[in-house]
Amino acid sequence: MTLLELTDVDVFYRDLQAVFGVSLHVDAGETVAVIGANGAGKSTLLRAMIGLTQIRRGAIRFHQEDIAHLPCHLLSRRGIAIVPEGRRLFGSLSVEENLLLAAARARKGPWSLKGVYELFPAMREFCQHRAADISGGQQQMVAISRALLTNPDILLCDELSLGLAPKVIGDIYACFADIRKTGVAIVMVEQDTVRARQQSDRLYCLLKGRVTLEARSDSVGQDDIRNAYFGETYA
Ligand SMILES: Nc1ncnc2c1ncn2[C@@H]1O[C@H](COP(=O)(O)OP(=O)(O)O)[C@@H](O)[C@H]1O
Ligand SMILES: [Mg+2]
Repeated sequence: MTLLELTDVDVFYRDLQAVFGVSLHVDAGETVAVIGANGAGKSTLLRAMIGLTQIRRGAIRFHQEDIAHLPCHLLSRRGIAIVPEGRRLFGSLSVEENLLLAAARARKGPWSLKGVYELFPAMREFCQHRAADISGGQQQMVAISRALLTNPDILLCDELSLGLAPKVIGDIYACFADIRKTGVAIVMVEQDTVRARQQSDRLYCLLKGRVTLEARSDSVGQDDIRNAYFGETYA
């Protein structure tokens, strides 16, 4: 069943068009990767899905409802959560306070404080630290937990690997298997195409704001991805 559907979406920043006629869908429980180079429009697209950026044309439907012009806080109530680029925790609050804030306005569902501590047991060791004082990988665990605590039907993840060491990235993505078991759909934005393929059921490639490839992740070739990622001029 289709959970989230974008149809022919355009997004502008003033006069600058960042997204051109993008259509994509995510089924319930599915993990979809959006790959593309810096500036391809990946974050813009995610922000449009959660109402942080307005679309100028096209439609966004979630559970068959037109959500294109709903504000962000209502979309969170309806079951869309984002792990934003840069994580954006409340730095002066403790890790646990960050989590409690999210839990306080949560929908009903499988995720609780206990559950996110089971997902990331290491979080117990730094739960009383200020969010600004912990490492990037630790912050990413908190940001994912915070999003899960709202009990979303779909989790939007913007470049979880940004600025993290390879070992830490592996640890972070390891949580996807457990998240998926609870039935949450995931949209993961990634520049690392190998990781994106490994972690997703399907993928879309964006190039300069346009979809250049839509494919099943287990059957698409690396050459097709390279052409879609870099464009025709790539040799
Ligand atoms: N707040 C903004 N104001 C103006 N232009 C923006 C803004 N955010 C992004 N852009 C532009 O929109 C395009 C897509 O950016 P973005 O969605 O951040 O790409 P990605 O996440 O794929 O790196 C880029 O050309 C970028 O410079
Ligand atoms: Mg981005």
